[in-house]
Amino acid sequence: MPSGDALLEVRGLTKRFGGLTAVSQLDFDVYEGEILGIIGPNGAGKSTTFSLIAGALPASGGAVRFAGEPILGLPPHAIAARGILRTFQRNRPFAGMPVIDNVLVGAHTRFASSLLSVVFGRAIHEEAERRRHAEELIEFVGLGELKDVPVNSLSFGQGRLLEIARALAGKPRLMMFDEPAAGLTGAESERLAGIIRGIAARGIAVLLIEHDMRFLLPLAQRVVVLNFGAKIADGLPEEVRNHPAVRDAYLGEHAAAR
Ligand SMILES: Nc1ncnc2c1ncn2[C@@H]1O[C@H](COP(=O)(O)OP(=O)(O)OP(=O)(O)O)[C@@H](O)[C@H]1O
Ligand SMILES: [Mg+2]
Repeated sequence: MPSGDALLEVRGLTKRFGGLTAVSQLDFDVYEGEILGIIGPNGAGKSTTFSLIAGALPASGGAVRFAGEPILGLPPHAIAARGILRTFQRNRPFAGMPVIDNVLVGAHTRFASSLLSVVFGRAIHEEAERRRHAEELIEFVGLGELKDVPVNSLSFGQGRLLEIARALAGKPRLMMFDEPAAGLTGAESERLAGIIRGIAARGIAVLLIEHDMRFLLPLAQRVVVLNFGAKIADGLPEEVRNHPAVRDAYLGEHAAAR
């Protein structure tokens, strides 16, 4: 069990869309360097939870603290600036731009150069530093050979890796991945698992939504299970896998679908 203060504390988080409660009284913590899995059937409220934490949607209730400070209600750019970044269920590249520039955009979303630093010539130094960091991240995700090619020529799997490099360029303290293995080949998924482990090893907290249990269970240290917006179980991957409510609500449904 992790000890010390949680980096992210979610308490009573609730989101209603009209009559539908998409996220209901949700509580969980995430620690630095930890990989926390979030599972649940389609429509369970997983992506909505990420949108609430990222500030992309207003919450209907509850509290979220990050590094000890309340963040619910802050605009998305302010939450990103504190170090919470995510990748989406679909890739969102800046078409027509080379890989390296796509990653640099990630650095700029968090660190806009101030007018003063421009005046004193620091901006040039900062830009060189960002570029060096972006190149390092492109190497880290395994796209080193492709840093100057237009993003349009990347495969789907390479596009996913680019999204990760771009988020890392914003120097996150918490990364949220929404179904990162969806659409990847077996080999690409394995590579992705290694990258996510590497991110956690850098001390970054990881929140990971994933339907593919073969991908998620070996990767996550703890798993939270959602059903109809509410947490129905949490614990170690092997505990969660054998939880009767999980078998009924989730694994059962998926086993039946196969
Ligand atoms: N902007 C919205 N307006 C209205 N309802 C929404 C909105 N976004 C999500 N919902 C509803 O909220 C519920 C939770 O959706 P959410 O996308 O969070 O589920 P999910 O667990 O990510 O599902 P999936 O596994 O299919 O990605 C669903 O019933 C969905 O239809
Ligand atoms: Mg989703």
